[in-house]
Amino acid sequence: MANITILGSGGWGTALAVMANRHGHTVTLWSPFEDEIASIRRHGQHKKLLPDIPVEPSIHLTCDIREVSDADLVILAVPSFAIASTAAQLRPYLKKGAVVANAGKGLEEGTYRRFTEVIEGALPGIAAVALSGPSHAEEVGRGIPTVVVSASRDAAAAKRVQELLMNPTFRIYTSSDVVGVELGGALKNVIALAAGICDGLGMGDNTKAALMTRGLAEITRLGVKLGADPITFGGLSGMGDLIVTCGSMHSRNRRAGMLIGGGLSPAEAVERVGTVEGYLVAGTAYHLANKMGVEMPIAETCYRICYENYPPERAVTALMSRPGCQETD
Ligand SMILES: NC(=O)c1ccc[n+]([C@@H]2O[C@H](COP(=O)([O-])OP(=O)(O)OC[C@H]3O[C@@H](n4cnc5c(N)ncnc54)[C@H](O)[C@@H]3O)[C@@H](O)[C@H]2O)c1
Repeated sequence: MANITILGSGGWGTALAVMANRHGHTVTLWSPFEDEIASIRRHGQHKKLLPDIPVEPSIHLTCDIREVSDADLVILAVPSFAIASTAAQLRPYLKKGAVVANAGKGLEEGTYRRFTEVIEGALPGIAAVALSGPSHAEEVGRGIPTVVVSASRDAAAAKRVQELLMNPTFRIYTSSDVVGVELGGALKNVIALAAGICDGLGMGDNTKAALMTRGLAEITRLGVKLGADPITFGGLSGMGDLIVTCGSMHSRNRRAGMLIGGGLSPAEAVERVGTVEGYLVAGTAYHLANKMGVEMPIAETCYRICYENYPPERAVTALMSRPGCQETD
């Protein structure tokens, strides 16, 4: 068994800590916020995000980043805007040989860097691992069978994460296509936001299925242009995550989209729901697609709804009225 430190005690970080602790590891859960840690300690659970999922006393709770120093595996589960700063904070304390994994999904705003690239920029010499796939925190916390993928340019690091975290309720495949795995995980959030908007507008199953399929097609187009293997997008971090995110009420992206489709402004919807990576990544995806010369009509429409006051009720008609083309173009 190993020492595992999870950075970020929100929904996902707490669920991963509970899961790793259940599997017998020595687990530390860190947050920069005293009140967040105090609340988990007081209630023995993350009352707001994971009610009734016990955070056992054996999980060490801390706000002191120096305590990362005995970790064999460090997992970042912080929002996209906090990854670079969190990785920089842990740098002086990281044990030699420790594996660093990122469990967040998104792309860095402005630079378009994938999160393993952000971590590797802050931690020279580290080959970071991306842990991604269909994995609602609420279900992982409850021990509901979940299957994800561990990807890295360093096969040994990806394998180490698999060895440490895989258990009968949390199966892990490895992949060397870290580009495809991270882009699938990041960009599906935009499609989930769009799926929520469709639901909020009262569209049907046909519309949602079309949106998911065409959404995956445009994610794949961009991914391939950036060096990913197209096969990866049919896997857990692509199709798998798209299915879980677009269909479930656990998804904050979908819930925010539903509020937007129902008439709330995007900013109000995000304020109400909390971390909505799809809202952040809609801008990044739109600009990246333009830069790479890749057509992404759904991501572009989402961007316009989120940032240019484009009315959601006009979006479906506009997408449906695009010139006809061949499906595999
Ligand atoms: N919630 C899920 O089911 C789930 C599943 C898979 C992946 N993810 C991804 O994991 C990431 C985190 O999601 P979440 O749902 O846990 O979010 P969250 O908002 O619930 O929690 C994020 C946590 O990060 C920490 N944090 C916040 N601001 C910080 C800062 N400025 N510096 C350092 N730490 C900070 C806090 O502990 C906070 O609770 C996102 O990228 C999300 O897409 C979430």
